[in-house]
Amino acid sequence: MCGIVGYTGPRQAYPVIIKGLKRLEYRGYDSSGVALWRNHKIDLYKKKGKVADLEEIMIGKDVSSNLGIGHTRWATHGEPSDRNAHPHLSASGRFAMIHNGIIENYAQIKNELVKKGYNFLSDTDTEVLLNFVEDIQKNNNCSLEEALRIALKRVSGAYCILLIDSEDPETIIAARKGSPLVIGIGKGEHFLASDASPFIEYTKEVVYVNDYELAIVKPDELILKNLGNEKITPYVQKLDMELAAIEKGGYDHFMLKEIFEQPSTIYDCLRGRLDAAAGMIRMSGISENIDKLINAPRIIIIACGTSWHAGLVAEYIIEELCRIPVEVEYASEFRYRNPIVHPGDVIIAISQSGETADTLVALEKAKENGAFIFGVVNAVGSSIARISHAGAYTHAGPEIGVASTKAFTGQLAVLMMMALKIAQEKNTISKERYQMLLNELADVPEKVDAILKNATLIKDIAETYKDAKDFLFLGRGYSFPVALEGALKLKEISYIHAEGYPAAEMKHGPIALVDAKLPVVFIATSDSYHEKIVSNMQEIKARKGRIISIITDGDSVTPTLSNHHFTIPPANELIAPILNVIPLQLLAYYIGVLRGVDVDKPRNLAKSVTVE
Ligand code: F6R
Repeated sequence: MCGIVGYTGPRQAYPVIIKGLKRLEYRGYDSSGVALWRNHKIDLYKKKGKVADLEEIMIGKDVSSNLGIGHTRWATHGEPSDRNAHPHLSASGRFAMIHNGIIENYAQIKNELVKKGYNFLSDTDTEVLLNFVEDIQKNNNCSLEEALRIALKRVSGAYCILLIDSEDPETIIAARKGSPLVIGIGKGEHFLASDASPFIEYTKEVVYVNDYELAIVKPDELILKNLGNEKITPYVQKLDMELAAIEKGGYDHFMLKEIFEQPSTIYDCLRGRLDAAAGMIRMSGISENIDKLINAPRIIIIACGTSWHAGLVAEYIIEELCRIPVEVEYASEFRYRNPIVHPGDVIIAISQSGETADTLVALEKAKENGAFIFGVVNAVGSSIARISHAGAYTHAGPEIGVASTKAFTGQLAVLMMMALKIAQEKNTISKERYQMLLNELADVPEKVDAILKNATLIKDIAETYKDAKDFLFLGRGYSFPVALEGALKLKEISYIHAEGYPAAEMKHGPIALVDAKLPVVFIATSDSYHEKIVSNMQEIKARKGRIISIITDGDSVTPTLSNHHFTIPPANELIAPILNVIPLQLLAYYIGVLRGVDVDKPRNLAKSVTVE
């Protein structure tokens, strides 16, 4: 969702900001803009569409400036348009603001301002907040910082704000609640952004701003305060991220690069934790909290989207291996109902971005009720990682493609290790089974590599089915969440309607959709459900559905029922989801590309969903 970038220092701000906005494109947006301090006034440029469209209107303009803020907007209040794009100027033209988040009580504040004679040039909640700040500043004749602090005490909702003042050539004032903000510390310069990718080549020293904190940022000074105007010592951290990780590296799309990175991302996730030869799993977050985990009366998994699918796989695995009851909750539902959470309950929060607003708020709620929060997060230093009592990073590296791929397999790998470790400590797994699963898990990167070597076979299948109107994805047991994930991937990046279903449930409704035009993808690798799913395939075949099956290498029966099949190396059924999802990611990718979709930035979607 919205991306923000700010710069103050000796460099030219405009190129830093534009490059930064391009790095944040992956978050999803529909317009962009910049505000530059120049000669005691603020120049504003904004445009609906891509950052490239903004660049076009800038051609020939004098953009020399050492202080600026830029924004990519994902529309919430008001349609995507030039006038709703950020930055906004205050009524007097003195201040400019960019904002990521939603001001929930903006209508009430707007009414008050309209009564005072304010006019609004956009439909945004941001312009309301900005004029509210200006009104307070004028009425109290106070500093901009003070005015912002007073204003923020009145607003409800989520925000990350950057503000500049035409009367101050070097200061950016920033504030955050619920939407991410990281400040890069250079030598005599500072960078501000939604994540570190816009400034990774300039500095690796960062400060993550917390909720209810305000930052006053000048080229050689960073002051952090809380809303009570008390100074806070900034906690400077070193980033472990390289520029190459956020570039395409020769691939046509980030999504393809990220699919092909999986042998190494899964390896990185297992590295230092899984020692199959010694029969050991080392996870400090688990070991340090082992009593809480093995004595948990139940585990609640909270997540959204693809991460929720990883949670469903984990439910099956944890119940099987650890014999602890598990519930998997959509964060957006959990946060608004009145869920029963007891002290002692363990919450596993799964999130790639670590910034998903629904997940974050759901966790705050569970934490208030005394639950222990264990985060399985990819983005290091993100809000969910920080709100968790303990956790394990997935170490998949930055995921730029909107459709989650390598983060999902990283989540599965971490969750599998967690389940094995807890089961071992709880004594709910035999030594032989434990060792066998450790060995199998260690083999995953190599098996994923073998699958990817056959990617062109999936490309051929994609060619055959690219014009389908609907798809059905069916699986049983551990493969059921994989079916859901396959359907979600296809929907997101091909815009083909797709449904994932438990294969046996299909006869209770979706079977009505089956005809000679409907492609049905079966995740039918060899497992304890295999015979059952073969019967389900017969049912589809009898109704002339077109079957694409994902099967285990060596299975000679299933291909006879399938129009197309793709083979996976043999694997234990608990491990198989990590492998089985790979061809489904590829299928979605190739179909999306063949249909001309911008697969890295599909319409309406945002990478990091920071509004509810
Ligand atoms: C799907 C996808 C989304 C995310 C969801 C949660 O490809 O990427 O469904 O999984 O928005 O995001 P995180 O994991 O960042 O909390």
